[in-house]
Amino acid sequence: MDSPLKIVTHSPEETRDLGACLGSAASEGDVFLLNGQLGAGKTCLTQGIATGLGVQAYTRSPSFVIATRYQGRCTLHHIDLYRLEDPMEIWDLALDEVLGRDGVGVVEWAERAQGMYQVDALVVTLGQLDGPSSRLVEFEDASGRYRPHLEAIHGQFPTHAKS
Ligand SMILES: Nc1ncnc2c1ncn2[C@@H]1O[C@H](COP(=O)(O)OP(=O)(O)OP(=O)(O)O)[C@@H](O)[C@H]1O
Ligand SMILES: [Mg+2]
Repeated sequence: MDSPLKIVTHSPEETRDLGACLGSAASEGDVFLLNGQLGAGKTCLTQGIATGLGVQAYTRSPSFVIATRYQGRCTLHHIDLYRLEDPMEIWDLALDEVLGRDGVGVVEWAERAQGMYQVDALVVTLGQLDGPSSRLVEFEDASGRYRPHLEAIHGQFPTHAKS
């Protein structure tokens, strides 16, 4: 399989379906680092991941909370670093103790905490692509830990032809 794996979605629903596929393949200790600009679809993908993990509650990015926990077949730690005002706040979140241990971790605006924790993560980058409803979603699995996840996605979604 090509690395990174590139998928195009054409609607928010498709991005949620892609997230659900990833969430279904996820297990304890997995960490998904989401990057991409405002409105790229990070929360949308997270909603799908939550569905795939069997979370019933609606997943969103609350106004003043950086870290939220949801219960599905395992815990989902949803961390959104957008509202981080002072980089030092990251240390208060103790991400090293939250990510890669119990449950599944999803971090929006993960670039803002780059190098501040050590985890074997799947890096997911979302970006706009020809028109308002298309998104290019790239999955980078540096270690190979996420190969089964990417195979599941590869089997269900057509890959992006252009490189
Ligand atoms: N293919 C698509 N996938 C995901 N979202 C899409 C797509 N097409 C259009 N959208 C729209 O783009 C927006 C994505 O919003 P979302 O909150 O998921 O982005 P985000 O990356 O989390 O942004 P933020 O950094 O502000 O939290 C939504 O309004 C959604 O309806
Ligand atoms: Mg968001």
